[in-house]
Amino acid sequence: MGKQVWPSGFAVWHFFRNPTWQLLLLLWSTSAVMMSCSGAEITCPEECTCRSTFDPEAGAAVRVSCTRGHMRLIPVDYIDRNANVIIIAAPRDKPNELTIGPIFTQPTPFVNLRELHIVNSNVPSIGQYSFWGLQNLRLINLTYNNLTSIGADNFRGLINLTDLYLDHNNIEQMPSETFRHLTSLKTLTLSNNEITILVPRLFRMLAKLLILDLSHNPLAELNPEVFKDIQHLRIFKCRGCLLRRINTQIYHLVANLEELDLGDNQFKYLTSDEFISLKRLKKLKLDGNQLSVIVDNMFGRNRELRVLSLAHNRLALLAPAALANLTNLTHLDISHNKIDRFHLQTFAPVVDCLKTINFSGNNLALNEIAILLQILPEIEGVGLANLSLPEIPPNFFIYNERLIALDISWNKLTTFPFKLLTKTKLLQRFDISHNKLQTLGEMDLQRLEAIAQVNLVKNTWHCDQCSAGTMLVYMTTTVLNSTLRQLKCYSPLRLRGVSFAEMSFDRLDPCPSTHEAQMSVIAGLMLLCVAVLAAVAGALCCTRRRAAHYYTNEEKRREHEHEHPDELLSHTELGSVATIHAPYHLVPKGS
Ligand SMILES: *[C@@H]1O[C@H](CO)[C@@H](O)[C@H](O)[C@H]1NC(C)=O
Ligand SMILES: *[C@@H]1O[C@H](CO)[C@@H](O)[C@H](O)[C@H]1NC(C)=O
Ligand SMILES: *[C@@H]1O[C@H](CO)[C@@H](O)[C@H](O)[C@H]1NC(C)=O
Ligand SMILES: *[C@@H]1O[C@H](CO)[C@@H](O)[C@H](O)[C@H]1NC(C)=O
Ligand SMILES: *[C@@H]1O[C@H](CO)[C@@H](O)[C@H](O)[C@H]1NC(C)=O
Ligand SMILES: *[C@@H]1O[C@H](CO)[C@@H](O)[C@H](O)[C@H]1NC(C)=O
Ligand SMILES: *[C@@H]1O[C@H](CO)[C@@H](O)[C@H](O)[C@H]1NC(C)=O
Ligand SMILES: *[C@@H]1O[C@H](CO)[C@@H](O)[C@H](O)[C@H]1NC(C)=O
Repeated sequence: MGKQVWPSGFAVWHFFRNPTWQLLLLLWSTSAVMMSCSGAEITCPEECTCRSTFDPEAGAAVRVSCTRGHMRLIPVDYIDRNANVIIIAAPRDKPNELTIGPIFTQPTPFVNLRELHIVNSNVPSIGQYSFWGLQNLRLINLTYNNLTSIGADNFRGLINLTDLYLDHNNIEQMPSETFRHLTSLKTLTLSNNEITILVPRLFRMLAKLLILDLSHNPLAELNPEVFKDIQHLRIFKCRGCLLRRINTQIYHLVANLEELDLGDNQFKYLTSDEFISLKRLKKLKLDGNQLSVIVDNMFGRNRELRVLSLAHNRLALLAPAALANLTNLTHLDISHNKIDRFHLQTFAPVVDCLKTINFSGNNLALNEIAILLQILPEIEGVGLANLSLPEIPPNFFIYNERLIALDISWNKLTTFPFKLLTKTKLLQRFDISHNKLQTLGEMDLQRLEAIAQVNLVKNTWHCDQCSAGTMLVYMTTTVLNSTLRQLKCYSPLRLRGVSFAEMSFDRLDPCPSTHEAQMSVIAGLMLLCVAVLAAVAGALCCTRRRAAHYYTNEEKRREHEHEHPDELLSHTELGSVATIHAPYHLVPKGS
C-alpha cells in the first residue's frame, strides 16, 4: 500500500538511478540528436528557428520560422531549400517591413514548399509570378499586411493551392477572374479588407471552393452573379458587411450551403421563404441584426439546422410556429433581445433535440423560463446572464437533470445558490461572475470543487476573517486554487481591489466580536416580540370586518381571471414550480 502513494515522477526517477539505465538513456538521447542532423543537414538563418517535425499525416517536414519582428529583408538565401513550411511573422508591436517578389522561385525554387506564411509584415503588393514553379504550395497566408489590390498574375502557377488567406489587408480592388489560376482552391478568406464591390466573374474557375469569408468589408450588397461560379460552397461568411437584405437568388445558387454567417449586419426583417433553398443548412448566425420578429415557418425547409443564433436583435416575439420542422436543432441563442414571454408551442418541435439555450439579457421573468425548461428535459447548457435576478429557486432545474453548463453571471445574486447546485449533479461549467456574492462557506466551496470550470470574479467579496478565511484555506489546498486567486476584495474599503493571491489571513479584519453578535441577537428577539403583538392586535381587528369584505374580493379575482385566461400558467407561483406538471399536452411529442 505504502508504495502506491509515491508520485509517479518519483518512481521514474528511482528507476533511472540505476547506472545501466542511465547509460542506455544517454545513448538513446545522443542518437536522437544525430538522427535529426544525419538525414539532411538543415541550414538556418540566424534570426530564425528551424526544426524538422514529423506528423503522421503530412510526413516529415522542415519548418522555418522567423518571428522576432522588425525584419526588413527575408533572409531567403540562408533558408534551407528543402523547407516545407516557412513562417515569417512579427509581434503586433514590431511589424516587419517586407516586399515579396519571386524570391522563393529564383534562382532555384523551393520545390518542397507546402505552406508559406508572411504575416504582419506591411507587404504592399504581391508582384507578378511571385509563386511560379512552387507546384507543391498548398497554403498561402498573407494576413495582416498592406495589400491594396490583387490580380490574376499574382497567383500564376499555383495549380495545387488549396488555401488562400488574405484577411486584414487593405484590398479594395479585385478585377474579374482574379483567382482563375487557383483551380484547386478550397478556402478563400478576405475578411477585414476594404472591398466595396464584387465584380462579375470575380470567382471564375473556383468551382471547387468550399469556404468563403468576406466578413468585415463595406459591401452593402452582394451581387448574385458572382455566386454562379462557386456553386459548391459549403461555408459562407459575411459578418459586418453592412447588408440590409440578400437577394435570395444567391441561396438558390449555393444550395449546398451548410454554414451561413450573416451576423452584425442590418437586416430588419426576413421573409418566411428567405432560406427556403438552403436545405442542407446546419449552422445559421443572424446575431447582431435588427430583427424584431421571427415569423411562422421561417426555417421550415432547413430541417438539418443544428445551430441558430438570433442574439443581439430586437426580437419581442418568436411566432408560435417559428421553429417548425427544426427537429435537429441543438443550440439556440436568443440572448440580448426584448423577449418577455414565450408561446410554449414555439418549442414543441425542438423538445427532444435542444441541448443549449441562451436566455441572457431579455426582459424575461424567471417563471416564464421555468415553465419552458420543464418541457426541455434534454437541455445541457442554459444562459441566464443579465436578467437582474436577485435569486434562483432551488428547484429551478428539477426537470433538467442533464445540465452541464450554467451561466448566471451579471445578475444580482447575494447568496450562493447552494441548494440549486446540489440538484444539478452533472454541472461542469459554472459562471456566477458579476454578481453580489460576499462570501463562500465550506459547503459552497466543497460543491465548487467538483465543478471543472468555475468563474467567480467581480463579486462583492467581503474580506474579513469570517467571510474570506475559509476561502483562503481552500485557495492554498484545493483545486480551486487558480479560481480563487483571481478574486479581489470589495470590502472593507481599505482592502478594495486587493487580490486573493496576495492576501494572507493576518491582513484580514477580525470577525465582528462575539459580544456584538450577542447584542444583535437580543435586539432581534425584542423586535420579534413587538411584531407578534402587532400581528395579534391586527388579526383581532380584521376578523370583525372580514365578512363585509369577502364578497367584493371574490368578485375582483374573477374579473382578473376573465381578463387573462391564457396567462394562467405564467401566474403560477415560482416556489411551486416543481409541483406543476409539465404541460406535455401542448407538445405533440415525436411529431
Ligand atoms: C497565419 O499566420 C499567423 C502567424 O503565423 C498564424 O497565427 C495564423 O494562424 C495563420 N493563419 C492560417 C489560416 O494559417
Ligand atoms: C499602406 O499602403 C498605403 C497606400 O499604399 C500607404 O499610404 C500606407 O502608408 C501603408 N501603410 C503602412 C503601414 O505601410
Ligand atoms: C500538382 O498539380 C499537378 C497538376 O495537376 C499534378 O500533376 C501534381 O501531382 C500535383 N502535385 C501534388 C504534390 O499533388
Ligand atoms: C416541414 O417538412 C416537410 C417535409 O420536408 C414539408 O413537407 C413541410 O412543408 C415542412 N414544413 C414547413 C412549414 O415548411
Ligand atoms: C438529424 O440528425 C440525425 C443525426 O444526428 C440524422 O440522422 C437525421 O437525418 C437528421 N434529421 C434531419 C431531419 O435532418
Ligand atoms: C449564449 O450561451 C451559449 C452557451 O450557453 C454561448 O455559447 C453563447 O456565446 C452565448 N451567447 C452570447 C451572446 O453570449
Ligand atoms: C451583460 O451585460 C453587460 C452590459 O451590457 C455586457 O457587457 C456583458 O457582456 C453581458 N454579459 C453576458 C454574459 O451576457
Ligand atoms: C496554486 O497556484 C499557484 C500559482 O498558479 C502555484 O504556485 C501553487 O503551487 C498552487 N498551489 C496549489 C496548492 O496547487
